[in-house]
Amino acid sequence: MATDTGVLANLLALPRNVWDSIFRNPLPSSDLARSQTTFSNLFLHIHPVKTHAHSLRPWYTLGLGVISFSLFVVLSVGGVLLMFYYVPSVEQAHNRMLDLNGTVAFGILLRNMHRWAAHGMVGVVFLHLCRVFYTGSYRRPREFNWIVGVLLFLLTLGASFTGYLLPWDQLAFWAVTVGTAIAGYAPVMGEQVRFLLLGDRLVGQEALIRFYVLHVAVIPVLMTLLVAVHFWRIRKDGGLSRPEGLDLPEAQAQFPEALQGKLEGLAPAAKTAKTKTFGVMGIVRGPFNKLGNTPDNTVYSWPNLFLAELFCFALTVLVVLAVALLFNAPLEAPADPTHPPNPSKAPWYFLGLQEMVSYSAFWGGVGIPTLFVVLLLLLPYLDRGTRGTGVWFSRHRLLATTTFTLLLIVNLVLMVIGTFFRGPNWGLVVPW
Ligand code: HEM
Repeated sequence: MATDTGVLANLLALPRNVWDSIFRNPLPSSDLARSQTTFSNLFLHIHPVKTHAHSLRPWYTLGLGVISFSLFVVLSVGGVLLMFYYVPSVEQAHNRMLDLNGTVAFGILLRNMHRWAAHGMVGVVFLHLCRVFYTGSYRRPREFNWIVGVLLFLLTLGASFTGYLLPWDQLAFWAVTVGTAIAGYAPVMGEQVRFLLLGDRLVGQEALIRFYVLHVAVIPVLMTLLVAVHFWRIRKDGGLSRPEGLDLPEAQAQFPEALQGKLEGLAPAAKTAKTKTFGVMGIVRGPFNKLGNTPDNTVYSWPNLFLAELFCFALTVLVVLAVALLFNAPLEAPADPTHPPNPSKAPWYFLGLQEMVSYSAFWGGVGIPTLFVVLLLLLPYLDRGTRGTGVWFSRHRLLATTTFTLLLIVNLVLMVIGTFFRGPNWGLVVPW
């Protein structure tokens, strides 16, 4: 029915009408509406309508995947804003940093947030890798998603390392000189790879433009694609990993707290599922009792999952903001190829490698890291077990857990030595 209201009435109703034209449905209050909200919203529909209650336990995922993604969003948005000011030229880059620090409104805050979020992302993505490892979540059917994850981890390191050069100060110049020298230790192709990265024999204008393009275009595009594949695979792999047996109604007994209320209504159907069989005429042959195999211990994603995600995102932004307000990102004197600091150190996440390089250039810089990455990629194909999946530090995975932990400790010790106990000419010093 056509309505013909006056201009004044239309003006008064303007805010409400604009709001309603964007958000067509009110906040959902029934299960059907909750499902429809998840299903019909562009940003929400990558989630399932219902989520397994176990996946929402904060101590299971520690929110690390969502925090990794939140940092990626903060870095992408901040990075685009920084691109309005930055010029990838050896004459201008350092001055542009000074402008950001001194004259551009909120420039220093933006730069600080970008710098600390980048360091944070390297750490958080690695912790997420550890969480996935220690819960055995790389196992079948998640092998491929683990591989996508390993690639995401390498790209995160790449993004951070290429960004390191852009301020064009002494720290940037010499960290990248050391970092790319490590690549040069590879046999046969080492020098060629280094030349490909730098576009020259030394770090200079060619290296700056290459690192810039990798940093603002190539790596972010690859990461966006891989993150999309990563999320899609989580859905296709049946949601997050969880201990065996939690999908079945019997789990009610083992998994009491939050689920008891939710499962009560399902109990009679579940009992039937054990005994009753169904025939789908002409589609499958013979009777089957599929009903009992569908995950029961689920809750609606709206609002449970979305609130958890929003909490992780808000917390991430707040922490990055607080750190950026408290600590300024370093900016040293402009890059000077004739005055190397002694010692020149790689970024912290490569300091374990640099320390190993001081014992053996090839093994430290190339051999051991390559072996480690190959082992990580092969891991889900070497460990074909199923017991202990979805459980932190399961005793059924003792060998894998112990080996990985030992490697972590060795790397950590090497990083600490490289960071605090190395002085001029890479000699041992005592920091206190
Ligand atoms: C940019 C980096 C990454 C982002 C944004 C990301 C995001 C996520 C998110 C949101 C989840 C679900 C929630 C959670 O588990 O916390 C997840 C799960 C998963 N991630 Fe990542 N991830 C990244 C890197 C990695 C890395 C480095 C690995 C391992 C090498 C990895 C392997 C996995 C696997 C196997 C799952 C499924 C876990 C399960 O089923 O329990 N991801 N990721």
